[in-house]
Amino acid sequence: MIKDIRSLQSSLPPHQEGVESPICVNSGHWLWQAKIATGVVAVLECRSQTKRGGSKSGCFALALKELRFLLRTSIPSTHPDFHSRVEKAKHEVATLQQIELWRSENPNRFRHIISTYGFWENKHYKSPTHQYYKQRFYTLQEAARGDLCDLMEKGYFQNSAHPQRAARQLLSIAHQSLEGLAALHEHGVIHHDIKPDNLLYRKEGKSIQVFIADMDLTDTLETARQRLRQGLCGTPCMIDPEMAKMESLSAVNFLIDSWALGLSLVELSVGVHVPWMHSDSLITVRNIRALNQSTVDSFVSRIPRYITDTEEGKQLIGIIRLLVRVKQSERKTPAEILTMVPAAGPSKPEGHCTLL
Ligand SMILES: Nc1ncnc2c1ncn2[C@@H]1O[C@H](COP(=O)(O)OP(=O)(O)O)[C@@H](O)[C@H]1O
Ligand SMILES: [Mg+2]
Repeated sequence: MIKDIRSLQSSLPPHQEGVESPICVNSGHWLWQAKIATGVVAVLECRSQTKRGGSKSGCFALALKELRFLLRTSIPSTHPDFHSRVEKAKHEVATLQQIELWRSENPNRFRHIISTYGFWENKHYKSPTHQYYKQRFYTLQEAARGDLCDLMEKGYFQNSAHPQRAARQLLSIAHQSLEGLAALHEHGVIHHDIKPDNLLYRKEGKSIQVFIADMDLTDTLETARQRLRQGLCGTPCMIDPEMAKMESLSAVNFLIDSWALGLSLVELSVGVHVPWMHSDSLITVRNIRALNQSTVDSFVSRIPRYITDTEEGKQLIGIIRLLVRVKQSERKTPAEILTMVPAAGPSKPEGHCTLL
């Protein structure tokens, strides 16, 4: 139905390009839906008419994301940071393109990384006041149902009526995320911003498919280390304790993703954010620098018994314990953990739509 990205672009009403508020336009086959979260301008759902006159939906669901470096804070194009922000957005596009190249060589290996179908740049964007960005970047990605932080905040895994199901789903989330991270690491890149908000999901019956997303900070080891010279970046409460000390560039390594994934799994299992999170990120970082293993272990011990008492829950705790070690020397990488834990049941790759 859609052959290329240009036909998609041409279906965008011109006056809607670059809008920051949710849009909802029904134009022919296309239903543009508001998406409701930072970074994503719209989730696009394709509706096709069936021969009998009904409509079939959900064949394609695509997420149109405006790259955040340009979105978060509005700065005029004359601002000294403007060009470096454009460079960052271009860098994210380059990373996503590289991932798609790797995926084309080994689709199965990258099945837990969200697919990107296209990119474009709007060089002539003018804000209503004509003083903000002249350049905007968009990516078009397969749309998931939402992110795991939404589920966490709804207390989705705290359902003691179905303890086995919750434990099975959490274990499967752990396996899929480990697989996704191992694929990135194998190619020499670290994600650098793992947290439940950046783990997207889709439901299939009672099982949950996980996709790692948000490659804003995804980088090669070397570049990520260079970045530490300029200061800490990422989500403050998920920062690795050794990296937080900023004593050595070598503290930036694949293990920082292990730490953040471990914490994400505990957050999902307990249903709350890490206890050292503070509204002031400087205080959060100070708390992290002072972390000891027993504080982390007591957070892990808040995982409800109805999860840890199940066989899957025990396996989950085993994985979590290999991830959330304050000392990097005691922690394992995703690839190492995958060789140590029993293989997960088959996780069926989703049929990806072919847009381009
Ligand atoms: N492909 C997608 N499908 C569905 N929701 C998405 C998708 N990409 C992002 N989102 C939603 O938008 C949020 C922000 O997107 P993200 O890529 O993480 O950008 P940011 O850099 O703003 O964090 C995510 O936490 C998720 O809720
Ligand atoms: Mg994000």
